[in-house]
Amino acid sequence: MWDEKYSAQHYVYGKEPNAFLAAHAVELPPGEVLCLAEGEGRNAVYLAGQGFNVTALDLSPVGLDKAQRLAAEKGVEIDTICADLAEFKLGSARWDAIVSIFGHLPPDVRRQVYANIPGALKPGGVLLLEAYTPEQMGRGTGGPRSVDLLVTAAMLRDELPGLEFLHLEEREREVVEGAGHTGLASVVQLIARKP
Ligand SMILES: C[S@@+](CC[C@H](N)C(=O)[O-])C[C@H]1O[C@@H](n2cnc3c(N)ncnc32)[C@H](O)[C@@H]1O
Repeated sequence: MWDEKYSAQHYVYGKEPNAFLAAHAVELPPGEVLCLAEGEGRNAVYLAGQGFNVTALDLSPVGLDKAQRLAAEKGVEIDTICADLAEFKLGSARWDAIVSIFGHLPPDVRRQVYANIPGALKPGGVLLLEAYTPEQMGRGTGGPRSVDLLVTAAMLRDELPGLEFLHLEEREREVVEGAGHTGLASVVQLIARKP
C-alpha cells in the first residue's frame, strides 16, 4: 500500500518538515536521531540540515528512495533502514532523540514499539511525536481510516512508561503537509524526556 502511494512523482506529505517538529527541534538534544515510520524523509532531511545525525526508518523502500533523493537535493546525508517496526529492535540507550510523525501503527505493534522507546533512548534523550486522535475520524483532512490506529494523550501516557512528559496536548490545528494531510485536524503532540 505505502509503496504504491509513494510511487507518485510528487512527495505525498511534501518536502517541508512537520510543523510541530520544526517548532520544537531546538528542544532535541544534539546527536543521533531515529525517525520512525519516516516515509519520504521530509522530517529526517530537515533534522539533518539542523546538524543531527539522522536515521530514517520505514517499511517502504520506495519512500526511503525518495528520502535519499530529497537528502541529496538539500545537500545533506541521512541513513535509512527499511524495516517493519513490528520486528525492528530499537536498541538499548542508542538514540539521543526519537521522532514519530503520523506514524500510526496497529495497536499491538504500537504498544510494543512504545514500550521499547524509553530503553532505546539515552538518559536525557527525548521523544517527539505528533499523531492524529480519534477525533480526526470523518474529518477527511488526512490520517488513517481506522480508529484503532489513532491515539489519545491518555494512551501515550499509559504506553510510554518511565518518561517525563514535558508537553502532552490534544488540540486542533490546520495541518498543511502535502496533499495527504491538508485541513483542520485533531492531533496529539508530545515531547517527553528519559530522566
Ligand atoms: C502517514 S505516513 C508518515 C510519513 C512521515 N513520518 C511523514 O510525516 O511524512 C506513515 C508511514 O508509516 C510507515 N509505516 C506503517 N507501518 C509501519 C511499520 N510497521 N513499520 C515501519 N513503517 C511503517 C508507512 O510506510 C508510512 O511511510
